Amino acid sequence: MATVDLVLPHHRYPIQIGPGLLADLGKMVREAAPHNRATLIIDDKITETHGAAARSSLESAGFDPVAATMHAGEDHKTLATVEKLYHPMLDARLERKSPVVAVGGGIVGDTGGFVAASYLRGVPFVQCPTTLLAMVDASVGGKVGVNMPQGKNLIGAFHQPVLVVIDTDTLKTLPKRDFICGLAECIKHGVIRDPDLFDWIDQNADAILGLDSSALVELVERNVRIKAAVVMEDEKEAGVRAHLNFGHTFAHAIEAGTEYGKYLHGEAVSLGMVAAARLATDTGRCDAAVADKLTVLLSKVGLPTTAKDLPATSKLMDIMLSDKKVADGKVRLVLPDKLGAVSIVSDTPNDRVASAWDSLRS
Ligand code: GLY
Repeated sequence: MATVDLVLPHHRYPIQIGPGLLADLGKMVREAAPHNRATLIIDDKITETHGAAARSSLESAGFDPVAATMHAGEDHKTLATVEKLYHPMLDARLERKSPVVAVGGGIVGDTGGFVAASYLRGVPFVQCPTTLLAMVDASVGGKVGVNMPQGKNLIGAFHQPVLVVIDTDTLKTLPKRDFICGLAECIKHGVIRDPDLFDWIDQNADAILGLDSSALVELVERNVRIKAAVVMEDEKEAGVRAHLNFGHTFAHAIEAGTEYGKYLHGEAVSLGMVAAARLATDTGRCDAAVADKLTVLLSKVGLPTTAKDLPATSKLMDIMLSDKKVADGKVRLVLPDKLGAVSIVSDTPNDRVASAWDSLRS
């Protein structure tokens, strides 16, 4: 088992990583949030498997959990779901010290986290991510919230968990496509901060894709260390935390332009990173080798690097330019300077951005 400590000025918490950790969840929650009651929010697809394991572990540790399930679709990450989740908690008269434990992917973690941030003005929150994407990104750092018809993640809070428990065995039952999507965020971490991680993923791709237990623990631990370091430097995204958005401005336009139906988030991020890296080459920021290496590694793990059927570039540009990150009619982008270092760039001419979109079609 590995432990990564996330230390902030007024709060610290452990992120526990290892195979089979769900069995110890109850014991760890008891140490982090000692109380005999808890809310367990579970992705309804895993109620009988990881949800049942989490529940029995909490019960063995003396908790009497109020269990609630939610559907983990992006269209269920709403205030309506949050309200539905409050009712059983209020009916059971759960108190301020009763933790909320979220078991599932990023949607369950973000929604459950917002419940924890707002129920009785905030209760302790435990993240128990069961997808690679949630393990290496969403569960670490305290961003919680829900979508609105006007856009994703527009209502939310920074509510740091008291504990994150990552059972890497849960990756073994994750649909392959979802697992591969999580690798997009891992490769992103390599590009923005850690060329050694980038090379390690390249060299260990077979073991990772073969779900080798020790490769999975090392993969998750190395990525959690990067995410935690970024959050420790810049909890509220005043600066470097925005580097985590590498590839994401393009990705959000792809997701919105295809009505969130065609590409999973990690696939859109993969295409977005390729476009951003090519844009960086095209505008003289970095060597073409970065975009080339990135494209090769993304393909090697099964992520898309071309998309012939993307919406028209004019439509994608319109979506990008209506993003909240636009200033003076120019998009704010995270672009690589070299492998392991990125910058936030706000003066890229729109015709160069349009060419980067076009490059994805060839
Ligand atoms: N997922 C990006 C962040 O946590 O800031």
